[in-house]
Amino acid sequence: MTQQTSYNTGKGAGETVGVALLGFGTVGQAAYRLMNEYADEFTERAGGPIEIRGVAVSDLSRPREGVDPDLLTDDAMSLVLRDDIDLVVEVIGGIDLPRKLVLAALRAGKSVVTANKALVAAHADELAEAADASGADLFFEAAVAAAIPVVGPLRRSLAGDRVNRVMGIVNGTTNFILDAMDESGASYDEMLAEATRLGYAEADPTADVDGYDAASKAAILASIAFHTRVSADDVYREGVREITAADIASAKAVGCTIKLLALCERLVDSDGKESVSARVYPALVPRNHPLASVSQSFNAVFVEAEAAGRLMFYGNGAGGNPTASAVLGDVIGASRNIVLGGRAPGESVYASLPIASFGSIDTRYHVVMHVKDQVGVLADVAKCFANRGISLKTVRQEGSENGARLVVVTHMAREDDLEKTVADVSSIDTVLSVERVLRMEGDD
Ligand code: HSE
Repeated sequence: MTQQTSYNTGKGAGETVGVALLGFGTVGQAAYRLMNEYADEFTERAGGPIEIRGVAVSDLSRPREGVDPDLLTDDAMSLVLRDDIDLVVEVIGGIDLPRKLVLAALRAGKSVVTANKALVAAHADELAEAADASGADLFFEAAVAAAIPVVGPLRRSLAGDRVNRVMGIVNGTTNFILDAMDESGASYDEMLAEATRLGYAEADPTADVDGYDAASKAAILASIAFHTRVSADDVYREGVREITAADIASAKAVGCTIKLLALCERLVDSDGKESVSARVYPALVPRNHPLASVSQSFNAVFVEAEAAGRLMFYGNGAGGNPTASAVLGDVIGASRNIVLGGRAPGESVYASLPIASFGSIDTRYHVVMHVKDQVGVLADVAKCFANRGISLKTVRQEGSENGARLVVVTHMAREDDLEKTVADVSSIDTVLSVERVLRMEGDD
């Protein structure tokens, strides 16, 4: 059980909450503007005025519009530690500097709202410990899928339920690319260039296209859903760089589209022993599954819980205003506690389930093989799957330039078994290559 060592009795109704805004990029600017625009309503909602008393930026010489110049500073740490600051809003990004600032704030008993998924996924333990020790609040709704409320619902609304699975499209850039490939039949490179031109993809798209951003979000979701510490390093990760127009066409042929999924699952073995799997990879999703219709740069999170059944959260997962919306929801929650006392539900990692090895997951597979078009190939391939106890759902053969393309979709199978089967199949003389193995997720 996590221990809270002090109790916040509140500054008193009507008292002002002093806020330090760390970062004035797209999200910081949107948060600043909306906090000023809605100031009167926020006062009512929080029980006292919320006042931005300083804005930390890295370069003071850069001209900045829409901010009171007297508030600007390039000394973020001094701002955080000022006596008139009760609440720190961190929207800088990166890990090292935000970690120092957020820890300093929490240790000084100041509540923190952050949109920083990389920070939360990498350092949740020490952040939670610092917050628990001082009784401060730590909120991070904006860290996962921006405007879409999913951290709060998992932590509060579903606290009385038992979550078994969270499956999300939590990266807008890759969803834009894959959706555009699906719509147009174009290549990954062409659609990455389009995403860059439209401002979805960064100049260096690594965090998005290699799945790091989604893995941080998966770690956060899995930790909350399963009351277990899951860090970004515990998340198995594959990105979308290798996805080709041929993969998309092959998925279409079996009634699917391809999505980059963040999957968080409670696994139960034959002895009833539970573990947690968190993984990110591109997967085939049947077109009639709710996640298949999530287009463009939208995000969605699909939750399966024992009593609630299936829930889907959908909306804008990135951008200044959508991210500021989530940040400001947390600012109001934290401010209300600062004014009226009390603390939001915090860390809950009591279950402390082990992290499952990636090889122990069960899913379905879509395997594309290039084979010689001759008698007995299909029987040999089918035998390899059968020998490992993997049942085939569909088998399709297409002619190709030299030989044939054999495409199988399996029923549920264990990752380890599939990997061994692929090795077995690859060693058959008449199999020229196993071209692609993709997983298939979501019921059809
Ligand atoms: N770059 C992310 C995305 C948004 O494309 O969804 C911030 O996590």
